[in-house]
Formats: sequence, C-alpha cells, structure tokens
Amino acid sequence: MNSRIQINQNLNDPYLSVMDFLNEVTLRFPKAISFAPGRPDPAYFNLKDSNKHLEIFVEHRAAQKGVSKETIWADLGQYNMTKGIINAELAKMLAIDENIHVKPEDIVITSGAQEGMILALSTICNPNQDVIMVSDPSYIGFTGFAKIYGLEICLVKSSENGIDLVDLEDKIKLLKTEGKNPKIVYDIPDFHNPTGSYLSKENRLTFLELAEKYDFWIVEDNPYGMFIYDGEKVPTIKALDKNQRCIYLGSFSKSLYPSLRIGYLVADQQLQNNVALSDELTKVKSLTTVITSSITQAITGGILIEADYSLEAINKDKKEAYLKKWKTLMDSLEENFRGSNNEWAKDISWNTPKGGFFLTMNLPFNVDEKILYECVENYGVIFCPMSMFYLEQGPRKQIRLSFSYVTLEQIEEGIKKLAAFIKLQVS
Ligand SMILES: Cc1ncc(COP(=O)(O)O)c(C=O)c1O
Repeated sequence: MNSRIQINQNLNDPYLSVMDFLNEVTLRFPKAISFAPGRPDPAYFNLKDSNKHLEIFVEHRAAQKGVSKETIWADLGQYNMTKGIINAELAKMLAIDENIHVKPEDIVITSGAQEGMILALSTICNPNQDVIMVSDPSYIGFTGFAKIYGLEICLVKSSENGIDLVDLEDKIKLLKTEGKNPKIVYDIPDFHNPTGSYLSKENRLTFLELAEKYDFWIVEDNPYGMFIYDGEKVPTIKALDKNQRCIYLGSFSKSLYPSLRIGYLVADQQLQNNVALSDELTKVKSLTTVITSSITQAITGGILIEADYSLEAINKDKKEAYLKKWKTLMDSLEENFRGSNNEWAKDISWNTPKGGFFLTMNLPFNVDEKILYECVENYGVIFCPMSMFYLEQGPRKQIRLSFSYVTLEQIEEGIKKLAAFIKLQVS
C-alpha cells in the first residue's frame, strides 16, 4: 500500500535528478564515447600501495606518541576524533602546496568535500532565514543540498572569467534592501565545474574585499586547482585571505582517488563568545557521519608522510596525462570546427580552460535531453547539456565537455563524431 506520508517536498525539484539522468544515459549506451563524467583517470589510483601507506602512518604515529604500533592499529579500528586524525599532516600539506597557513584544529576532515558542503550549509545557515549566493551554472553538489535543506539561493551571473563580482555586489545590495541576509557565497575559482572558468588574482582580492564590506563568508571549493595546464598557478582565495573571510573546501578525490572519501574544511573563523567555527562544524559532523573513516584517513596520512607533505610530486605524471588530454581536445576542436573547410562552424566557439577537467562549448542552437539522445543514438557520443547545471530554467545553447576520463584516441574520435552531429544540426 502506498503511504500517505509526504516526504521532504524540496526533493520534487527536477534539478535534483541531473545525476540520475546522466547515469542512465551512460548505462544505456556503454559503448558510447562519453564526455559527460567528471571522473578522474583510474590509471593513477595506486590502490595497491594502500597497505604500505597504512604501515607508514602507523609507524609514524607510534613514534610520535611514544606508544606501540599495536595501540595505533587498535585506534584505527575504534571510534576516533570527530575532527579527524590527520589534521596536522594536512596543515603541513596546505602550507607547502597552497601557502595556506592554519592550525591543525582549524581543519575538519570530512567524508569527501561533499560532506564539507553539507556541514558548512547546515552549520552556518538557517533555512527560511538566510540566503546563499552562487554563480549560475554551478556545481550541483552544493546547490542541490541547499535546495533539499530549503535555503533561498540567489543566482549571480558568470562568464569565462568566473563569477561576475559587479553582479554579485548589485545582488547583495538588493538583498539587503529587502531585509535579507546573504551569508555565504560559494565558488570554484580554479577551473570551475561545469564551466572550466578561473578567477584572476585581482578578482580574488576584490571578492575578499566584498566579503569584508558586506560581511559574508566565501566558501571556496578547490578540487581541481592542482591540475593547471596553461600559465602560472594563481593563489587560492584562502591563501590571500587576511581576515578569515574564506572557508576552504578541499578534496583528495582528484589528487588521489574518490573512493577514499577524504575531503576537508579549513575554517579558521572565530565566532562570538570565542567559539571556533571548526568546533561548531565538528558538532554537526558528530551528528552526521560521527567520524570520517580512520582507515582511509590513515592511508591518506601515509601518502602525505611518504611524500614529505606535498602532493605536487605524486601528481606529476597524472598532471602530464591530463595535459595531453587537454591538448588533444583543444587540437581536435581546432581541426574539426575551424579552418577553411569548416565555414559551417563559424558560430561555434569554446573557452580555453587553463586547467581542470571541463570545457564549455557554445552552439548556435538550444541543447536539451532530446538532442543529447539523438547524438548518442546516431553518433555514439555523450556530452552534458549545460542547461542541466543551471538553476535558472530556460533553453541553453551550451554543452559541457569533460576530458579527464576519456582516452586520447576517444577524444580524437569523439570530437570528429560530435562535429559531424553538430554540422547536421546547423545545416
Ligand atoms: C566542484 C566540485 N566540488 C566537489 C566535488 C566532490 O568532491 P568529493 O568527491 O570530495 O566529495 C566535485 C566532484 O566532482 C566537484 O566537481
């Protein structure tokens, strides 16, 4: 018998079914070349060394604490510190790799960055009272939970230069005149998902000034920052943050591998009454996942110890492999959509992401699920219609291509097929 009990009505929002749709397409067409998933390349996961990394961690901790290795092994099987057990190792890594200098107790280790988003939203915001702000389109992991949680989301314009800070300031002023309270602005300044954009250093500094002026926190999500292919690394917002305006979300899903489920929040903010924001986040975590797996924290800790607390060297080969994919994609796009043979493609353009996994293509026609199915069924290529990532409903003439999970050969073949499909649409 069907129940008359109504579950959370926010779940009816079609925006929340995007991931299901993409999984369904991928499962229905397993042989298609898929530019849809933002998955890391499994060739670099290195799971086979997990036992060695556990050993390294246990030995290191036993020496540090002056206890037996048996004691540390037992600790790993037990409930542990809610805030995490590798905070000190992470603080060292952040100082070396990102020039972010925080105390271990300012860090909360989470079950992936996704849990960090949930903790940040539910610790900081009151539903029916607070407003969060994001550029549109944005990463559904953050906005999707905000919707389920019932938060009002104010959308900000963006371009290939990232979040539009003029529009952000205008919208904040408007919200304030309406008596509303924008508390958090979420962004992915390094190689945005889904657009691939990045925010210049100048704009990062302006962003921080706005946070100070209008009294909000920036939630900076940075899973892709390490994968830069063009130009110099720009400091993260957190590295530029002198006034504790930024809460930083990190993830090992791309720099190591996703099934570790290790992410972290850097929250060095002090609240009134001298309460640390990290302690409040930990309070919520104690009622959410209790602890992040000590086993996978220890594997991550072992990797960091072995690598002298820097992920740069570990990711060198992987970065080169992604760089090759990026170059192949850029060359394939040039070859198939530019030049005298390709007059038909003159209204088609794309951005040049400086890093990360994603690229935006602008097409002269609206792209919806029907068009995607036509392309998969007839040309064997899957992409993401960008409309899936927009909160503001309406037709969109853009697609997202992700290049991390496809091989070089698949990129060349897939772009050729995609061009043939698009040519048919525009002629
Ligand atoms: C922008 C962004 N943030 C966070 C995540 C998820 O990170 P995690 O696997 O650590 O939960 C992703 C995954 O694709 C992402 O694209």
